[in-house]
Amino acid sequence: MLGFHYCFLILCFCVSLQLVYSGHEPYVMRISCGARHDVHTAPTKTLWHKDFAYTGGIPTNGTNPSYIAPRLTTLRYFPFSEGPENCYNIKRVPHGHYSIRIFFGVVAEPSFDNEPLFDVSVEGTLVYTLPSGWSNHDDERAFVEALIFLDDGTASLCFHSTGHGDPAILAIEILQVDDRSYYFGPDFGKGTIMRTVKRLSCGVNDSMFGVDYGANHWGGDRFWGSIETFGRNSDRPISTENSIKSTSKAPNFYPGSIYQTALLSTDNEPELTYTMDVDPNKKYSVWLHFAEIDPSVTFAGQRVMDISINGDTVFPNVDIVKMVGGVNSALVLNTTVPVSGRTLAIALHPTKGTHAIISAIEIFEVIIAESKTFLDEVRGLQSLKNALGLPLRLGWNGDPCVPQQHPWSGAYCQFDKISNKWVIDGIDLDNQGLRGFLPNEISRLRHLQSINLSGNSIHGPIPIALGMVNSLEKLDLSYNFFNGSIPESLGQLTSLRTLNLNGNSLSGRIPAALGGRLLHRASFNFTDNAGLCGIPGLPTCGTHLTVGAKIGIGLGACVAVLLIATCITCWWKRRQNILRTQRIAARDAPYAKSRTSFNRDVQMARSYSHEHTRTAAENGPPLLS
Ligand SMILES: *[C@@H]1O[C@H](CO)[C@@H](O)[C@H](O)[C@H]1NC(C)=O
Ligand SMILES: *[C@@H]1O[C@H](CO)[C@@H](O)[C@H](O)[C@H]1NC(C)=O
Ligand SMILES: *[C@@H]1O[C@H](CO)[C@@H](O)[C@H](O)[C@H]1NC(C)=O
Ligand SMILES: *[C@@H]1O[C@H](CO)[C@@H](O)[C@H](O)[C@H]1NC(C)=O
Ligand SMILES: *[C@@H]1O[C@H](CO)[C@@H](O)[C@H](O)[C@H]1NC(C)=O
Ligand SMILES: *[C@@H]1O[C@H](CO)[C@@H](O)[C@H](O)[C@H]1NC(C)=O
Repeated sequence: MLGFHYCFLILCFCVSLQLVYSGHEPYVMRISCGARHDVHTAPTKTLWHKDFAYTGGIPTNGTNPSYIAPRLTTLRYFPFSEGPENCYNIKRVPHGHYSIRIFFGVVAEPSFDNEPLFDVSVEGTLVYTLPSGWSNHDDERAFVEALIFLDDGTASLCFHSTGHGDPAILAIEILQVDDRSYYFGPDFGKGTIMRTVKRLSCGVNDSMFGVDYGANHWGGDRFWGSIETFGRNSDRPISTENSIKSTSKAPNFYPGSIYQTALLSTDNEPELTYTMDVDPNKKYSVWLHFAEIDPSVTFAGQRVMDISINGDTVFPNVDIVKMVGGVNSALVLNTTVPVSGRTLAIALHPTKGTHAIISAIEIFEVIIAESKTFLDEVRGLQSLKNALGLPLRLGWNGDPCVPQQHPWSGAYCQFDKISNKWVIDGIDLDNQGLRGFLPNEISRLRHLQSINLSGNSIHGPIPIALGMVNSLEKLDLSYNFFNGSIPESLGQLTSLRTLNLNGNSLSGRIPAALGGRLLHRASFNFTDNAGLCGIPGLPTCGTHLTVGAKIGIGLGACVAVLLIATCITCWWKRRQNILRTQRIAARDAPYAKSRTSFNRDVQMARSYSHEHTRTAAENGPPLLS
């Protein structure tokens, strides 16, 4: 029974956790750039975090070029001396669909050339080029807003200098929206980014943020610009106090207020036409909002419109009351159109009734998201950046290869169709005043074909791991302070055609695998080093031995010493034995010697006496006789 209760409690706990994490509130991150403390802005007490996650730049006081921008007093600007690209990398962003908004500022200092113009990229894709004059307009030119899927836990927003002043950023907002919000068709998803070009609430004179309308947070706190007329009193605003049905619904959560006002065409000009300038040769996603709030229209068939974009009918026979089943109810239509010219014109032509009506318009540019650089290679370049102490002016922030308009200087990119990612095929950092060392992590750059680090002050050894970069064809490390010996591993680089190691402090034997290739159509230069040897034209390797040779000789010497020691020991032992024997012999020497000679004497004497005896016996005993 107790167990059951525990299980029940744990289950409840898990369910409640699940509720918290499944996100009844969307992720929200707002940063007040340049701010040293958190800031709350009136009237909604919106929280702006103090500045963080930037790659460089200088915090200072800013001026608000537009009343749309939040009331923040600081900004961060990025002088060109700190590199051509700088970023905010906001980490721990949950996977999801986001509305990212970046507000631009102007440094509050008269000596500054006002109004910087620069490029903005989000997750490696160029989304905006600031138009000249942006700071003189009180409209959405003061910020860029884009809808994007973030699925790597980080939001990377970068600012690319174009030589027109220092990028200055006032504030950043990362607001989670519904995964299906602004679903516009099969192309919607991770491969596309939607940049807001225009979002207008018709028939009002005050622009509003979603938060001012008390809108649902999943709507991303959209900014609704105001438009009182499409031009020359061809229309008139109308409004209603009635509440509007079918608003604030997933996935877009449109606030009801935008449907309580509208523009209505007049008797002199029955067609309503909204025209705006756009960048040519792009795709635009157009969202049109309607609600029948005109009291003179109460049932289906009273107002029918044909809607065209740039002359092509995109929605024929739009009868709002018929389509939503009544008055004061919201209707949203969307379509995606390619635009080749510089204008986008939306025309509403009444085919029944005499007036056209519209509540709101949203226009997005559909941008194909860039593929990023292979992550392992980005890490390799970052190690290189740190180890070489790359100067700030070179930048190297954000993604190395994208946006394609702003690659890192000194890094060359190639698109790998197999992995669908960018890879690095060249590094060209000659004569850049680099002072560090070359790290082993350079081997993470598996697709390198050429490396030129000539004319720097790089010291330390040539990394052994360089031998793993199989595709390497050109390696120029000349005029640096590389020391130690040339690693044998370079001999494995079978594609190597150019190898310039001249003008360093290298020593030791040139690997045989490299020396042997000199005959083929390769250009290797080993001159001007501390003491390289082993190929024709350089000293023979007498004094300068490779590590292998040194070990070999060391081992040989040890064996020789051991052998000699063994021989000496053996000889000593043997000599000791002989000496001992001789010592024993010396003790018994008089007897032994005399016995021997005695025996001989006796024998001699015997034979002598025998002869004599016989002779004497034949001749008779001379003495005895
Ligand atoms: C910014 O303005 C404050 C006063 O509002 C001033 O104290 C501060 O020195 C200014 N900072 C800079 C960098 O100009
Ligand atoms: C937008 O239009 C597309 C294609 O016409 C349609 O599939 C989609 O449901 C529409 N989106 C919304 C939110 O109405
Ligand atoms: C819009 O502005 C005009 C004057 O510019 C003003 O008379 C009118 O009351 C305003 N309307 C709203 C709804 O604020
Ligand atoms: C490397 O750069 C230097 C200086 O610009 C140049 O002279 C040299 O030819 C380059 N090396 C290779 C292999 O291209
Ligand atoms: C290479 O130079 C560094 C100093 O820059 C020194 O510490 C190191 O011992 C040298 N290595 C060799 C093999 O001479
Ligand atoms: C090799 O480098 C030296 C300078 O260190 C230069 O004088 C020589 O011409 C180079 N040799 C070749 C074949 O390029």
